[in-house]
Amino acid sequence: MENLLIGHLVKVEGNQFTVKLISDEEGYNPLVSTGSSATLVGQIGSHVSIQQSGVHVLATVISTWESSDDDEISRFLNCMPLGEIDNNEQFSRGINQYPITQADVFLVTEAELQSLFSSNADYGFSMGHLGNHSDVQVYMDPNPLFGRHLAILGQSGAGKSWTVASLLQNTVQTMPNAHIVLLDLHGEYCWRDENNKLKGAFSPSVMRYVDARDLEIPYWLLTYAEIIDLLIDRTDPGASIQIAFLREVLMTLRKEANEGLGYDRLSVDSPVYFSIDDLFLHFKNANEQQMDFGKTKGALFGQFDEFLVKLQSKLNDARYDFLFRPKRRKNSDSLEGLLRDFTGLTEPKRQITVIDLSPVPSDVRPVVAAQLGKLAFEFNYWNPRRKEFPIQLVCEEAHAYIRRDNDEKFKGTRIAMERIAKEGRKYGVGLTVVSQRPYELSETVLSQCSNYICMRLTNPDDQQYVRSLVPEGQSDLVSILSALGRGEALALGEAIPLPTRFQVEAPSPTPNSHDADFFNEWSGEPFEVNVADIVDRWRRQIR
Ligand SMILES: Nc1ncnc2c1ncn2[C@@H]1O[C@H](COP(=O)(O)OP(=O)(O)OP(=O)(O)O)[C@@H](O)[C@H]1O
Ligand SMILES: [Mg+2]
Repeated sequence: MENLLIGHLVKVEGNQFTVKLISDEEGYNPLVSTGSSATLVGQIGSHVSIQQSGVHVLATVISTWESSDDDEISRFLNCMPLGEIDNNEQFSRGINQYPITQADVFLVTEAELQSLFSSNADYGFSMGHLGNHSDVQVYMDPNPLFGRHLAILGQSGAGKSWTVASLLQNTVQTMPNAHIVLLDLHGEYCWRDENNKLKGAFSPSVMRYVDARDLEIPYWLLTYAEIIDLLIDRTDPGASIQIAFLREVLMTLRKEANEGLGYDRLSVDSPVYFSIDDLFLHFKNANEQQMDFGKTKGALFGQFDEFLVKLQSKLNDARYDFLFRPKRRKNSDSLEGLLRDFTGLTEPKRQITVIDLSPVPSDVRPVVAAQLGKLAFEFNYWNPRRKEFPIQLVCEEAHAYIRRDNDEKFKGTRIAMERIAKEGRKYGVGLTVVSQRPYELSETVLSQCSNYICMRLTNPDDQQYVRSLVPEGQSDLVSILSALGRGEALALGEAIPLPTRFQVEAPSPTPNSHDADFFNEWSGEPFEVNVADIVDRWRRQIR
């Protein structure tokens, strides 16, 4: 066997080892072949093994540098220990026995790497291969990956959407009974081509495409608190009267409209139908009530002017039609159909439901996203067979609606998604958040993620933030994020035996997220752009 000794430990600190590479005269070769591939010694993200009388530690390279002294050049590696390898060649996280200086440092062979990932190989769920060992598949454990929430982070164009497509394609291939709901903000995963033909990143046999407006999430699904957030300005001096009256009216209307359903205990929050027009009328009548031919005014006279204006403007706003003017979901029975559409249980059943939010105007998206988050949670919360029916909610561009700041507009989405992040595990609801601005994303959601697929990220603020989130002892690895190429990722967390830098397998088909081809388009023939059509689409809010 070839000699893979590359150096010796010269410094040992808690979480960092310094290795002095053996010099050229001693046989140092910067390019060593292990198995089928040649490895550049000390490549960032590559693995080394440190051995010394019974101690066997696996570490990953974080940085490399050299110094010259009396014309002699010495090369060094900075490594981060990942865990120990026992006598059976099994890897375990954490270090019980530290090596001391002068310990031998070896390059890890392809076979050794294979065996490190073998613990997960039985699932057959691979996300790609090691960058410098294309034969070594990176297998993940799907249980913690989906059950304990996943964050896919990286700057624009780093390859997040391709990773999502690749991940989900592999998921339905290895687990044909998967239940995934994907919130697609830009229509990247399913779209219509020039001939109006539906195209997608997933085969039609596994995917259902739903235009978020057609899903029709009716207003009557909103809870009392959600209706308050949507219709009442809490800073208004008359807010408390509006809130109290709303409660009374809501209770009455929900009960009246559903007497035939046979539920004896309905609450203000029950997901049952009521008429929004009746709600408007109740407020209007109370606001205008006069007795004794106009001599005495009702107790609530004039109290609801603002509320009525706000409600009326929402009812007249075409952007809110999917909420306030449902065409199909106009009675309590229609909730079943909504849940079936949402979870892919409408015949024929589908594994992935892509909910296209791109036609929904951006200021209404948070309201829709909040309801989708709520549906995912409530479905399994009330599902007695939840453990056999785990659901994964994938939120693309999550920073756009699961916000860190306390903006009232995003409060509903934050509450819904944070509830999944905090309690979803118990009810079989997993969350995947995908974002290019982790710093703007809800801290609660991110910190509940036990798995991170980090792609290229150069912004120091975002890097610093990710560093503070990732599992203890692995934060130094974040410094390699700016060195990653397109489609390259660093996986951290419970689903993978050790933190790993790898190349994500390109999806097939790919999502519709290609960069514009400036050179070719700008070098080609000019053509007429239909500006009138652009204006029309903008006004109609149709893309
Ligand atoms: N695994 C991969 N293998 C090869 N090329 C890739 C891979 N991932 C991404 N790319 C390339 O990078 C481009 C951008 O990828 P993608 O759309 O996934 O970026 P993104 O991180 O989702 O960006 P944004 O934040 O703007 O949505 C792709 O069009 C593709 O050309
Ligand atoms: Mg993307």
